[in-house]
Amino acid sequence: MTEKKIKYVSGSYDAEDGFRLLDKEIAKHEFSKNSQEGSSRRLFYLALPPSVYPSVCRMIKLCCMNKSNLGGWTRIVVEKPFGKDLESAEQLSAQIGELFDEPQIYRIDHYLGKELVQNLLVLRFANRMFMPLWNRDNIDNVQIVFREDFGTEGRGGYFDEYGIIRDIIQNHLLQVLCLVAMERPVSLKPEHIRDEKVKVLQSVLPITDDEVVLGQYEGYTDDPTVPDLSNTPTFASMILRIHNERWEGVPFILKAGKALNSRKAEIRIQFKDVPGDIYRCQRQGRNEFVIRLQPLEAIYMKLTAAWEIFTPLLHRIDNGEMKPIPYKPGSRGPSEADELLSKSGYVQTHGYIWIPPTL
Ligand code: BG6
Repeated sequence: MTEKKIKYVSGSYDAEDGFRLLDKEIAKHEFSKNSQEGSSRRLFYLALPPSVYPSVCRMIKLCCMNKSNLGGWTRIVVEKPFGKDLESAEQLSAQIGELFDEPQIYRIDHYLGKELVQNLLVLRFANRMFMPLWNRDNIDNVQIVFREDFGTEGRGGYFDEYGIIRDIIQNHLLQVLCLVAMERPVSLKPEHIRDEKVKVLQSVLPITDDEVVLGQYEGYTDDPTVPDLSNTPTFASMILRIHNERWEGVPFILKAGKALNSRKAEIRIQFKDVPGDIYRCQRQGRNEFVIRLQPLEAIYMKLTAAWEIFTPLLHRIDNGEMKPIPYKPGSRGPSEADELLSKSGYVQTHGYIWIPPTL
């Protein structure tokens, strides 16, 4: 028989009854035969609109705290968007801070849990080949892109209050930007990583309107929970500029959109043109280093493709359209090769043999 692992307890955000009931349900499991006698660890994950965080936190504090005096803890997890702007985020922090100590509060961003995002620091700081390239001398621009091929179906009410910048760019993409742009932390301790991220954020210059493009997909306001005259962007592309020694002059382009032609999240680092590029006429394009976060995680490099030059010829040979000319072993090869040389302007000097000097 399978054990029931989930129990639904209903109640309202600001009434004690529901939370008291929840407390009772939790207690049943804490002191069951399977739990460590006396200890209790309570983790509350608030998958809720931020406007109700304070009242829910108050209720948890009042009714649902860990009551064991033999250890354990009570913690809360909150997700973005943490507020609507700087002022409301600070206010929310202060309200929650009155009820819980900082180590009890976890503010999470689920993009940081994505495998390739987690690997970004390893990639940057454990691979010597990237270190000398990762700066304004070599990188022309960085794009961090999020695209979804569906709209706000079913979430219009929430989304319309927040919009794509608060929903995706200010949190998910900015976290990724920090990992791409930060300096090497002193160690992998969370506070050392945080310190370096904060330095990046403090170096970002104010965003100017002429470097922002906003969009709203057609049909967005057909959703009954979205006001007809909604001004909420469902697409935004903007340039962030980091004013420091490593990144001065390198635009970080953050782009996010709903209801687009594909679903993808990626970091695309485009390198500068090769100075005095001798292949310019072949329009090979720039080197790019791409980290695709989803779907189908991948890291790949767009290099100037020598294969593009040879592939058509190789295919003609493979298809039998060109045949190799026989030549004698120990000869200069087919005489046609010398003809090709002279056709292309090479003048052979007969009767002259270079003899290497003897030591
Ligand atoms: C959420 C946003 O944080 O991330 C959603 O609120 C978005 O609007 C989602 O669809 C995307 O997450 P993922 O992991 O599917 O890229």
